[in-house]
Amino acid sequence: MFEAAELRDDIFWVGAIDWDIREFHGYTTNRGTTYNAYLVKGEKTALIDTVKAGFFPEMISRIRSVQDPAKIDYLVLNHLEMDHSGSVPLFKELAPNAQIVATDHGSKGLPRHFRYDWPVHKVKTGAEISLGDKTLQFIEAYMLHWPDSMFTYLKEDSVLLPNDGFGQHYASFHRFDDEDGRIEAIMEEAAKYFANILMPLAPLIPPLLKKVEKMGLKIEMIAPSHGIIWRSHINKIISSYVEWSTGVARDRVLVIYDTMWGSTEAMARAISEGLNSAQVEHKLIHLRKNHYSDVLGEILTAKALVIGSPTINEGMFPSVAQLLYYIKGLHPLKKKGVAFGSYGWGGEAIEAINGEMRASGIEILEPGLGITYVPGKEDLEECVLLGKRIAEAVRK
Ligand code: FEO
Repeated sequence: MFEAAELRDDIFWVGAIDWDIREFHGYTTNRGTTYNAYLVKGEKTALIDTVKAGFFPEMISRIRSVQDPAKIDYLVLNHLEMDHSGSVPLFKELAPNAQIVATDHGSKGLPRHFRYDWPVHKVKTGAEISLGDKTLQFIEAYMLHWPDSMFTYLKEDSVLLPNDGFGQHYASFHRFDDEDGRIEAIMEEAAKYFANILMPLAPLIPPLLKKVEKMGLKIEMIAPSHGIIWRSHINKIISSYVEWSTGVARDRVLVIYDTMWGSTEAMARAISEGLNSAQVEHKLIHLRKNHYSDVLGEILTAKALVIGSPTINEGMFPSVAQLLYYIKGLHPLKKKGVAFGSYGWGGEAIEAINGEMRASGIEILEPGLGITYVPGKEDLEECVLLGKRIAEAVRK
């Protein structure tokens, strides 16, 4: 019933579209996703990655439209996470002779996932497998984003299959960036994906891209394991990855807050007014109305984070603590920060926010602004001035 989509001669997309997924291990997937598996046919045939287990019937149906699965020679596992490896046991039942190909880390992780003792053909960077008139070349991508991660390159066709790299949680009827036509939405999802999945490992990305460059690989298509395949915007996505992985950001400020009785929100709006009068691009984000994974997509391209919380139980609001805890694990690069908030008596939230920002490597611009109970006119003017000072700092 399902058909394979031919991307180039004898290279097929045989993945699955998950239109309705809205949550992916704690990450909101507002536009759904795809699990992209690829079938490469030469004299021999290779399947590159599989799909999440529940989508096995869709993948196998697409494979059958062009190839008897029992006659597939290789199963290349670029990454062990279950959204790509979940269908391996079912696939191996139909294709018991398919030789599994993975990195050394992949070979160790595979039995820990499935408790099968399948033999694995281990590959290192530069290793090749000939399918006849097509050649698979492998590039280890250690910790991008798991130890087992690798890229597969199709030499004769100049196609890079980088698994999660360059991916986006984006469901579409179309396979290619130039067919879909919503490049802004695709780039937004690519940025969110980078921020939530790859940001803590960002320092590894420029050396890996250099390694690919040094190997002299010509790239005419980047086919990731999620979302749209890059064909017309290859330079755009690669240069975006270089910027994101080196902390390049715009003169942009995020005022991120939660509020109890509206006082911290009033402060946020006054800080926004200060940024506005200085004509600095900014955005207010209420943390109980925005999911933290969406906020991370915004943080990626902002220079400063102004984080506000009322003091509650001698600390900050749980929603603010959750975001800061999440940020700490993701190690954002080159961010500046300021804390603010309303409090009744202790005011501990400001120092708690500062402590978390310090632990995340965020440069604290000033000690923070706390106001007791409800801000009056003079307090709000203080907030406007704070906004103006932050505007100056991001423009430096
Ligand atoms: Fe799409 Fe790391 O799995």
